Amino acid sequence: MDTISILDRKFAKSIPEKEILNSIDRVASQINADLKGTNPLFIAILNGSFMFAADLMKRIDFPCEISFVKLASYHGTTSTNNVLELIGLNQNINERTIVIVEDIVDSGLTMTRIIDLLKSRGVAKILIATLLFKPDALKFNLNVNYVAMRIPNDFIVGYGLDYNGYGRNLKDIYTVVE
Ligand code: IMP
Ligand code: MG
Repeated sequence: MDTISILDRKFAKSIPEKEILNSIDRVASQINADLKGTNPLFIAILNGSFMFAADLMKRIDFPCEISFVKLASYHGTTSTNNVLELIGLNQNINERTIVIVEDIVDSGLTMTRIIDLLKSRGVAKILIATLLFKPDALKFNLNVNYVAMRIPNDFIVGYGLDYNGYGRNLKDIYTVVE
């Protein structure tokens, strides 16, 4: 078994690069078929989606734009009134079709918040493209339109995803070993 150590945890290779890229081929084909002629704006959520965004965009075969954003949280006076903001989105997105490019949908909280922020800016349509989806962890009512890979509810790293900041550079995906 192919295992690595990151900080205090051990991880075993669970999804090799080739399998990741094959799953992105499939999702890109669906997006190419569905969205040609809609002039979509892809919005990739940093940091985790940087590798997925790069490999996905190389496979999109129609004219489109991509923008990279970060979800930032500003602490309010109590823990319940933290203000969330999308940083880096400077263009007008009114009436645009948006494809959110995300690394992983786990509980769905992050995605729900991003969708609320985009809706408040008047977008015409929001679609979600995620590299990974943990169906057993989902706690929010979300329609995830494009899923490259469905995975069990275990912690993973690699291909953009991190454990305490490390592991994003790995070209394969690894699952934590209990
Ligand atoms: P959610 O808000 O619960 O859906 O979690 C989404 C965010 O949590 C992702 O954008 C990741 O940054 C992080 N995350 C969730 N599961 C994992 C994992 O297995 N490994 C690394 N990061 C994860
Ligand atoms: Mg993320």
